[in-house]
Amino acid sequence: MSWITVCEVSQVQEEFPYSAKIHGTEIGIFLVENQYYAMEDICPHAYALLSQGFVEDGKVECPLHEAIFDIKTGKCLREPGGRDLKTYQTRVHENQIEISLIEE
Ligand code: FES
Repeated sequence: MSWITVCEVSQVQEEFPYSAKIHGTEIGIFLVENQYYAMEDICPHAYALLSQGFVEDGKVECPLHEAIFDIKTGKCLREPGGRDLKTYQTRVHENQIEISLIEE
């Protein structure tokens, strides 16, 4: 499995996820209960960055029309999200967050 460095751990906070573009794909890095999670960052309903949404209790609410997604699983919990989101494995290596682009 190949790992891609995304950002430093200090760049991700629970209420302020990190938005990255990796090989042309927008991916949000979220912090939930001291674990880092990577998930597609574009809401499938229209075009909004979920990393700019409202994060609470392991869920993120889309800033445009309030769809809700589970950050750990990518599951769409409230419409109009339209579908579940892809999630990616993460790991921390020397203070850097890395992800694997292979979908979980
Ligand atoms: S763009 Fe996310 S709910 Fe509409």
